[in-house]
Amino acid sequence: MSFETSEGLARLRKEYEATGIEPADLDPDPMAAFDAWFTQAQDAGCTEPNAMVLSTVDADGWPSARNVLLKGLDRKAAGSSTDGFLFYTNYQSSKGADIDTTGRAALTFSWLQLHRQLRVSGQCIRVDAPVSDEYFALRPRGSQLGAWASDQSRPVADRAAMEARFAELEEEWDDREVTRPPHWGGYRVEPLRIEFWQGRRNRMHDRIMYERSGSGWSRTRLNP
Ligand SMILES: Cc1cc2nc3c(=O)[nH]c(=O)nc-3n(C[C@H](O)[C@H](O)[C@H](O)COP(=O)(O)O)c2cc1C
Repeated sequence: MSFETSEGLARLRKEYEATGIEPADLDPDPMAAFDAWFTQAQDAGCTEPNAMVLSTVDADGWPSARNVLLKGLDRKAAGSSTDGFLFYTNYQSSKGADIDTTGRAALTFSWLQLHRQLRVSGQCIRVDAPVSDEYFALRPRGSQLGAWASDQSRPVADRAAMEARFAELEEEWDDREVTRPPHWGGYRVEPLRIEFWQGRRNRMHDRIMYERSGSGWSRTRLNP
């Protein structure tokens, strides 16, 4: 694919002809609206529809972004005044350090087959340990051992060192049930903003943004 030739550009240039969105078409509760879009992304056969780019910043304001998998929607969790988007990771990773420092994160879903993008930003906090325990117990044994084996985001000498560590852990846990490493668990992104983007013709895309307002949500249409 060439970005420099007119043919390359023409191939990239897509006229988005999908049906548009009006605020009235979306549920006034953005989590319910998210649910509907997520189901449509699954039904449309989007690749890994629960993959989302997680953006964080470090203490100096340097941004980082990487994919993680959405593992659930946490509706009005106990002790929380709001809903959340759940994902799991290593708390000692780069992203874990960023989140624990700033308490903030953003998520971006790209459902390109539908010419849709969904953005979330808000507070990000660790979920309670029993929630992480419960999810960890559902993971395949290999993934459980992987969580123990990987010092995520830290340097490692080579692939052989990683595999030796995994084999060591397999032996160590033998046929015992693998319990959750304390450095591995869930985060909940509690949205303050959620934006639904639908590609349209002539780059006149639709953008509907929800913003937290008291215990409810306001909705605004944004220019594309
Ligand atoms: C599709 C996809 C899904 C991923 N899901 C996760 C995930 O759920 N949790 C996770 O820790 N890393 C996941 N990763 C790996 C991360 O993108 C990243 O490499 C890793 O978490 C280390 O990030 P960090 O060093 O910025 O903390 C995924 C990668 C891809 C491509």
